[in-house]
Order: sequence, then structure tokens, then C-alpha cells
Amino acid sequence: MKRSRQDVLIPQEQIEKQKEYIQKIKAHYIGQDIQPLAFLVTYGCQQNENDTERLRGMLAEAGFGFCDSAEDADLILYNTCAIRDHAEQKVYGNLGALKRLKRRKPELIIGVCGCMMQQKPVAERIRQRYPHVDLIFGTHTLYQLPELLWQVLNTHDRCVRLLDSDGYIAENMPIRRVGSVTAYVSIMYGCNNFCSYCIVPYVRGRERSRDPEAILREVRQLAQEGYKEVMLLGQNVNSYGKDLAEPLGFADLLERVCGVDGIERIRFMTSHPKDFNEKLMETMAAQPKICNQLHLPVQAGSNAVLEAMNRRYTRETYLDKVAKIRSMIPGLTLTTDIIVGFPTETEEDFAQTLSLLQEVRFDSIYSFIFSKRSGTPAAKLDMTLSDEVIHENFDRLLEVQNDISRQINDSYIGRTEEVLVEGQSKTDANMVSGRTEGGKIVHMQGGSERIGTLVKVKITAAKTWFLTGEII
Ligand code: SAH
Ligand code: SF4
Ligand code: F3S
Repeated sequence: MKRSRQDVLIPQEQIEKQKEYIQKIKAHYIGQDIQPLAFLVTYGCQQNENDTERLRGMLAEAGFGFCDSAEDADLILYNTCAIRDHAEQKVYGNLGALKRLKRRKPELIIGVCGCMMQQKPVAERIRQRYPHVDLIFGTHTLYQLPELLWQVLNTHDRCVRLLDSDGYIAENMPIRRVGSVTAYVSIMYGCNNFCSYCIVPYVRGRERSRDPEAILREVRQLAQEGYKEVMLLGQNVNSYGKDLAEPLGFADLLERVCGVDGIERIRFMTSHPKDFNEKLMETMAAQPKICNQLHLPVQAGSNAVLEAMNRRYTRETYLDKVAKIRSMIPGLTLTTDIIVGFPTETEEDFAQTLSLLQEVRFDSIYSFIFSKRSGTPAAKLDMTLSDEVIHENFDRLLEVQNDISRQINDSYIGRTEEVLVEGQSKTDANMVSGRTEGGKIVHMQGGSERIGTLVKVKITAAKTWFLTGEII
């Protein structure tokens, strides 16, 4: 049954109520004459990072400072990801290691939130095996952090707040962003695609779009604060707006965002190939602020595997769309995601993924070995290839792609690119780094006064993962 908009939007009174808890927490620590420090760790995608920026925003308003180590913290919070087993194992490992710290420092508060917690058996495992974890909440209760934290501070009991829900939209929460030049803006949450290997639809709920006015308000605010670039986020941005009272497509939203003065670059992710359409291509080509960059996850090169993945496009339609967008936007930077070792994948299927990489010549790829996610349809399938073969295939894939990436990057040597300087190099104080319009990372000599400016850079050297250049 379709939920009404009212059921999706968290009423503003509830957000205000959280702000009251924020003030209570602040007073609590002032009363004790301590400045509490929080250590936040984020796993997973940009949406999760954006969620952490909200967690940080609430904590900052409650008087928290932030630190980079568990040892110094009064509150440790893991915002978790459930996409692959590897990400989950890291969280278990980290939590296990905190047992001793908590024994030494009983007033330390340890919390776990995010996508992992939306899987019942996982949350239950944490509850039972990690009694030193005080705070457990999921993606649908993120905005309630102040209330939950206040409860823990007062009762010294652990607090678990999990909700089995199709998900909400919480507007006007505080936010404290990581960068000062480019900002993430989530335009929608959840996913309805149910690719057969993927856990996201189960842990993030149904697709729901923020109101365009709310998004534009946020982008205008960012422009006022001096941000130059926004990255619009959604699991499948092409579905944006389908659930709004007055339906508005993603291309229309992009056009409106282009109208915000001060924002000079707009990127977005992720586009699902089945929904990547001509209207969006035309908008990308027509709007100078939309960067000539596209992340279009293909996952596999074989139609049999694509069908088993429930991706609902074919190799041929994917290649057609790539050819079309490249003809409309010459010089487009194209990246993708690949899964190696999907259960039904045979050697012949894998060979087709390799041939697709050679045919398309992506600028770079994000490749993953299939990870069985319990509750998804693919988890019930028998594996065709052995672990050993899958790992060998994974290495072959990287070899093929690294060559291509390097060749493409080499072709940038001698060219002049417009680079938005995003920050100082971590290793060299005389170096800054930024991105080309296509999204390639460039390192160059320069001082911090360059940060936030667009500069023309002559590319002098190339590696597989980045470029080096001189500001002209
Ligand atoms: N919504 C985005 C992807 C989000 S997850 C999209 O549809 O493109 C990011 C990537 O993780 C996916 O593109 C996929 O390549 C990978 N992934 C998802 N589930 C996985 C699994 N069970 N095992 C391995 N990789 C997976
Ligand atoms: Fe997962 Fe598919 Fe949704 Fe992407 S589109 S989040 S891969 S179900
Ligand atoms: Fe992971 Fe959740 Fe993102 S499962 S990839 S953090 S939506």
C-alpha cells in the first residue's frame, strides 16, 4: 500500500523535541564541567557519510568536540554498512577490541547505528555478545540520537531503538560537514530495485524523495556558506520525484539546482542503467554546471548474469546508452561497479565482463567479490565457481582495468584542465589537491589560499589513480 506523504515526513515537532534533548545533554556536560569528545567511525557509501554528518551536527550542538582516537573519546559511535561481509567483520572486530577500554573507563558510551542494525539477527548478536555496547539504533531512528543518548546518560542502562519500517524523511536536522568546498546532499533515501544480491532495500527501506524546496534550500545555504560543488546522492537518482505529490523528474531537479548562484559544479550518484534516459543525457549536455562525469554501475558483462541479478537491462542496452552519452558529451569520465563471482557466474560469463571492460574502457572501476547477504534471493543460489577461481578472476579484472586507467590518465599529460581545489595534501604542506571536471584527482603545488578556487592546471604526470600538474 502506498504510504501518504504525511506518514513519510517526520513531523517538525519531533525534530524540535530532539533539539530539546540536545540542550539537556549540553547542560548535563556543562554541569559536570567537561567538554565531551566523540569519536565517529563511518563505513559504507556516501549516503552513510552524509548521515554521519548529521550525527556530528547533533553532537556538536550538544557541546561535543571530536577526536580521532577511541582512547580519547567519551562517546564512540560506529555508523555501519551491511553491503558486504567484510564491512561487517570490521565492526565486530572493532567492538570486540573496545571491551577492555570500557572496563578501564566505565563512563565511556559506545554506540552502533546504521545499516547493519537494520538486520534483526545482527542487532541481536550485538546485543547479546557485546554487552559493553550502550546504544543501538538503526537507519530509521538516526534522528533520535539526542533522545537515546540522554536516556543512556540518565539511566546508565543500554538503549536499543530499532524500527522495522519503510523509512522516513527527517528535515532540518543539524549538520556538521566534513569538507568546506564540496558537499553531499541526499536527495532521496531507500531503494526499490531489489537487485538479487543487494541488502540495501532491506536496510534502507522504500524509495522516498525529499521535497525539491527542501533540497534547494539546503543547496542555497551551502552556496551562502561558500561551498562550490554539490554531490546529489541517492541509490538510484533516476527514480527521484516519483513519490512526490507533484511528480518532478531528476533532470528537472538538476536544472533547478543549476540555478543556484555560487554553486559551480554539480555531480550525482548513483544512476541505475535501466533508468538512465535521454532526458537526463540532454540535461547533462546542456547544463555547464553539471560535471562531465558519470558513474553507471554495470555489475557484469553477461546477459545471463545481469538477468539473475535482476538488473533489468542487457549488455547491449548498456553499451547503447554509453555510446549515446559519449557522443553527446565528448571527454566524459565514465566509472562503474563490477561484482565478480555472482553465484551463477561461469568462466564464459566472466570473460564477457572482461570484454565489456575492454570495449567500454572505463576511466576507473570499483570492483567487489560477491558477498552472500542473508535474506537476499542470491544468497539461496549455489556457487558455480570456486573461491580460488573467483579470486583469480578478480585479480585478472584489476590487471585489465589498471592498464586501461593508466593509459587513459597518461593521455591527460600535457593537457590543461580546470581543477576545483578542495584541500591541502595530507603529506606535503606545499601541495593542494582537487578534481578535474571529470572527477579525476589532481595534486599540485600551491598554498591553502587556493582552496575553494577553480584553477587552470597543466597536467605533467599521471598514475593509475591520480594526476599531477602545475597551476598556470
Ligand atoms: N545503488 C547503487 C549501488 C549501491 S551499493 C547502484 O545500484 O549502483 C555499491 C556497490 O556495491 C554496487 O554497485 C555493487 O557493485 C556492490 N555490491 C552490492 N551488493 C553486493 C554484494 N552482495 N556483494 C558484492 N558487492 C555488492
Ligand atoms: Fe542495491 Fe540495486 Fe538498489 Fe543499487 S539499485 S542499492 S545495487 S538494490
Ligand atoms: Fe552500506 Fe548502507 Fe550504504 S549497506 S553501502 S551504508 S546504504
